[in-house]
Amino acid sequence: EYDATPFLPRRGGLPAYRRAAARCQGCPLFREASGTVFGAGDTSARIMIVGEQPGDQEDRAGEPFVGPAGRLLREALHEAGIVESQAYFTNAVKHFKFEVAGRGKRRIHKPPSLREMSACRPWLSAELRLVDPELVVALGATAGKALLGASFRVTKDRGALLPLPQDEHQPAGRAGGMVVATLHPSAVLRSDERETAYAGLVSDLRVAADALG
Ligand code: URA
Ligand code: SF4
Repeated sequence: EYDATPFLPRRGGLPAYRRAAARCQGCPLFREASGTVFGAGDTSARIMIVGEQPGDQEDRAGEPFVGPAGRLLREALHEAGIVESQAYFTNAVKHFKFEVAGRGKRRIHKPPSLREMSACRPWLSAELRLVDPELVVALGATAGKALLGASFRVTKDRGALLPLPQDEHQPAGRAGGMVVATLHPSAVLRSDERETAYAGLVSDLRVAADALG
């Protein structure tokens, strides 16, 4: 079974996690990607932002949210009053999954499978223990399922302040941690009604900002 657990260090902060995750072979996604894109940001942050997986530009840079979706996300966070330098950013899956298509050999994003998501989940749990955020923002269905379970649906669960389930991976997690889900910034970029979708993203992020007070 796919599982990142054997690659996790017993202890250590973000640098130790980053070094160990760079060598993770917990699922097949490490084979094709350029490298692991681990979480980044303020490890004492009150808020943790969780995306799906790195995209093409994140894979090249080795940092999360540096591409077009990341730019849109930062703009929306700013508009909602969430200070980027006071957040920790990561993804539910740490390697870029893609297929190469067309004559330009573009790398087209593919959604991670449930097996890959659950293989990578121990890294997210380690980050939750390390950062111990008061509030987690789940961007899109993959992050939502990773944090809230397989029955998560963006349409029904977005924009609400929900308790963060405590699972076996996060025994030391902050009691009473909360989560707000919203749509993925990539979904805003793809939307036919981009203005409306963007306004929805900002309004969900405001729920998160208000919860932090
Ligand atoms: N989309 C994500 O979900 N995460 C990133 O890091 C970049 C794009
Ligand atoms: Fe490990 Fe996650 Fe990468 Fe799979 S996607 S190899 S579990 S870091």
